[in-house]
Amino acid sequence: MAQEDVFKKIVSHCKEYGFVFPSSDIYDGLGAVYDYGQNGVELKNNIKQYWWQSMVLLHENIVGIDSAVFMHPTIWKASGHVDAFNDPLIDNRDSKKRYRADVLIEDQVAKYEEKIEKEVAKARKRFGEAFDEAQFRATNARVLENQQKRDALHQRYSDAMNAMNLEELKQIILDEEIACPISGTRNWTDVRQFNLMFKTEVGSTADGASTIYLRPETAQGIFVNYLNVQKTGRMKVPFGIAQIGKAFRNEIVARQFIFRMREFEQMEMQFFVKPGTELEWFETWKNTRMAWHQALGFGAENYRFHDHEKLAHYANAASDVEFRMPFGFKEVEGIHSRTNFDLSQHAKFSGRKIEYFDPETNESYTPYVIETSIGVDRMFLSIMCHSYEEEKLEGGETRVVLKLPAALAPTKLAVLPLVKKDGLPEKAREIMQELKFHFNCKYDEKDSIGKRYRRQDAVGTPYCITVDHQTLQDNCVTLRNRDTMQQERVSVESLRSLIEDKVSLTSLLKKL
Ligand code: GAP
Repeated sequence: MAQEDVFKKIVSHCKEYGFVFPSSDIYDGLGAVYDYGQNGVELKNNIKQYWWQSMVLLHENIVGIDSAVFMHPTIWKASGHVDAFNDPLIDNRDSKKRYRADVLIEDQVAKYEEKIEKEVAKARKRFGEAFDEAQFRATNARVLENQQKRDALHQRYSDAMNAMNLEELKQIILDEEIACPISGTRNWTDVRQFNLMFKTEVGSTADGASTIYLRPETAQGIFVNYLNVQKTGRMKVPFGIAQIGKAFRNEIVARQFIFRMREFEQMEMQFFVKPGTELEWFETWKNTRMAWHQALGFGAENYRFHDHEKLAHYANAASDVEFRMPFGFKEVEGIHSRTNFDLSQHAKFSGRKIEYFDPETNESYTPYVIETSIGVDRMFLSIMCHSYEEEKLEGGETRVVLKLPAALAPTKLAVLPLVKKDGLPEKAREIMQELKFHFNCKYDEKDSIGKRYRRQDAVGTPYCITVDHQTLQDNCVTLRNRDTMQQERVSVESLRSLIEDKVSLTSLLKKL
């Protein structure tokens, strides 16, 4: 199945099984805004818990905060967001549609890459086992031609973006003959900058309302609380402040479902270090974060680092953790060495001294910062994409199963009476009453047992137990494993110890 089709299936699966709904669905939705349903919210909470505990529980020197979405407007002046948090936009005069110029060009780069991959796939089919992919890529004329075009375009595009040369971005779009997907024409306006922050007003107009912004990142809430936390928590450098919360960006090109949203959630940690030690800490945090991702068991080959060549003016190192989505390797998390830029800017704009007094050296300095910043929704999407499987079973039947990491699954155990009579529902409820204090259980008695297993497979429940007539005699149930579909007879007393360890967050955290 083409990856595009797989992705469409995942999106509709998310809706059908209560993971993600379009926001304001009965009013036909609101662009790039989504709601999480009854299963989605559980998965999302588990992701957040996994992150929070890996930061705050496992590190003595990291504490959490929860800062407000609304902040003093000068914060965004100091951070540079008012002046520089922009996307380059271009309009098509015929369709009146607006696009991000950088995205149009990136799509064109991707088209060359697709052409190369098609050639490789064709050759693989033709040559079978004897196919030497590396040699084919190095020698095939069509592959080389497309590679050369791709590299030249990519270089020109990177140079234009680094210099924020808007005229050059437009020229690239014209030279590459990129047409509007709606009108099909190349009747483009000039490229302009567009600020991504949402504005609103605080206070009544009579009092003189002032404009404030919905935060486009949670990080600034941490920076402006640096002094509060350092002093009240008696924190010693190096130390970190973690936060999970909503962020808002007026994304113009909102695509790929929950990959790019206008309202989303971030999990950010700012780690304050002594100047001069930041690059060592940057490497440490890159490795720590990669280990966090890989502990989920999705395979190391599905992750890669993308080290930034061109850095923001305040950064001295930056790298993304990318994950293989159905639409290619995409950024899920950013790890940035932000120097002392943010704290120094806030010191300058607030007039406050924002420093750290080192009791060992009797010196004061502005700490440098390593930031780890991951989107909850992107993480959610990567997990759904990797876990969704359509499995061919013996007899030709297909089952849809979400092979979610057990610790993140919305429901850990489904409790199913074989029939709705003969005291089986009562026995099933009795078992559930005991286990529900230890992990998330669901009771289901509707439809055949086969259908109920399929329903639990589709929402990623790692274990089901079936209560049958024999249970009333021997106090044993059938325990079914989602992934292997194997069933074993186990005693009711042993259920908690058999399941709890495998589905607990602790088991996942212990892998770190
Ligand atoms: N404080 C640094 C910062 O915000 P970023 O690279 O702009 O850096 C960090 O964002 C992470 O937030 C990204 O790696 C991504 O996972 C998530 N993210 C950013 N914009 C997003 C959007 N529009 N929708 C969903 N997630 C987004």
